[in-house]
Amino acid sequence: MTLYDNHGRPLNYLRLAVTDRCNLRCFYCMPEDGIRYLPKKDLLSFEEIGRLISILATLGISKVRLTGGEPFVRQDLMQLIHRITEIPGIKDLHITTNGVLTAPHIAALKKAGIGSVNLSLDTLDRDRFKAITRRDEFAPVMHTLEQLLEHDIPVKINAVVMEGKNIDDIFPLIELTRHHNVDVRFIEEMPFNGEGNHYPTLHWTYTRILDYIRTQYPTLTKKIDPQGSTAYSYHVPGHRGDVGVIAAFSRTFCGTCNRIRVTAQGTLKTCLYDEGVLDIRALLRNGLPDEAIQEKLLTAFHQRAKDGFEAEAHRKNHAPVSESMSTIGG
Ligand code: GTP
Ligand code: 5AD
Ligand code: SF4
Repeated sequence: MTLYDNHGRPLNYLRLAVTDRCNLRCFYCMPEDGIRYLPKKDLLSFEEIGRLISILATLGISKVRLTGGEPFVRQDLMQLIHRITEIPGIKDLHITTNGVLTAPHIAALKKAGIGSVNLSLDTLDRDRFKAITRRDEFAPVMHTLEQLLEHDIPVKINAVVMEGKNIDDIFPLIELTRHHNVDVRFIEEMPFNGEGNHYPTLHWTYTRILDYIRTQYPTLTKKIDPQGSTAYSYHVPGHRGDVGVIAAFSRTFCGTCNRIRVTAQGTLKTCLYDEGVLDIRALLRNGLPDEAIQEKLLTAFHQRAKDGFEAEAHRKNHAPVSESMSTIGG
């Protein structure tokens, strides 16, 4: 079954943040001191997540991406992963991770049939990694990358492009695609750094990123993008992996947006830019039967904002975005 929203867009993709906690402090995501983390009891339990995904699967959700914070900071995450793979209707499960704690779980992820792993890695230089993430964890992340390649798990590297921080990494990251089966995606920086009222000037728009890439790779070729893809995909002829650009700030993919989000505290967001449209945790904890929860979810899906601008306009007080990407789950 396919569910369509009020703008005729199919909804089949759930991004679920399993925690708001993270072991890095990427400056575009969190302030140095971190964000005020949720108490554990406020997070959805694995039982609640399992139930919610089962309900969503009956409504047509077939793809799940676990995000965070850093998903592997949540204890026993592999138990949740196994639980999700057993839910009827969930055809593929993916995870977005920063790779610090991931390497020891890669064999188990492979065995569980993980569809792909998106690895957040903005630089291939240890010092720059330290400057961006405010932590000295470059080595374990690179180990994760090696293990993913060794286990033949599809991997996409996410690199946020930042003026004065990692421009020198753009070509070396693309070089990874020459001999390895890895895709690299360059992302426009978004205003979700947990500090509020800080809207960065976007120095590196996706068109500028592309122009820059073409100076070194003039044969860069456009590929056809899968429906609902965040990335515009390209290929350097002769390379094994693809190169993508994600116009995350320009929001050019609202028209085909097929995704809903559930934050770490169990709030439904039907657009990245809305303030949360349904407190699912309350529904789960108030003893409502599945059918009643289904009904509420359907109502929310049918009142979906058309695009990020509309969702933002609905925000109370038009408050500046003070959320951290770590709470939203990307
Ligand atoms: P796949 O397409 O399944 O590989 O994943 P993805 O690109 O949706 O997920 P990922 O977690 O790797 O996120 C990549 C980047 O896209 C992050 O910076 C996200 O915040 C951003 N992103 C994901 N969904 C949206 C969205 O709906 N709107 C905007 N503007 N950005 C998004
Ligand atoms: N702008 C763009 N991308 C971001 N991410 C985190 N914060 C931001 C931001 N402010 C990315 C991370 C991760 C993905 C889920 O979101 O790099 O790969
Ligand atoms: Fe952690 Fe990801 Fe935020 Fe970096 S971007 S601090 S890795 S949640």
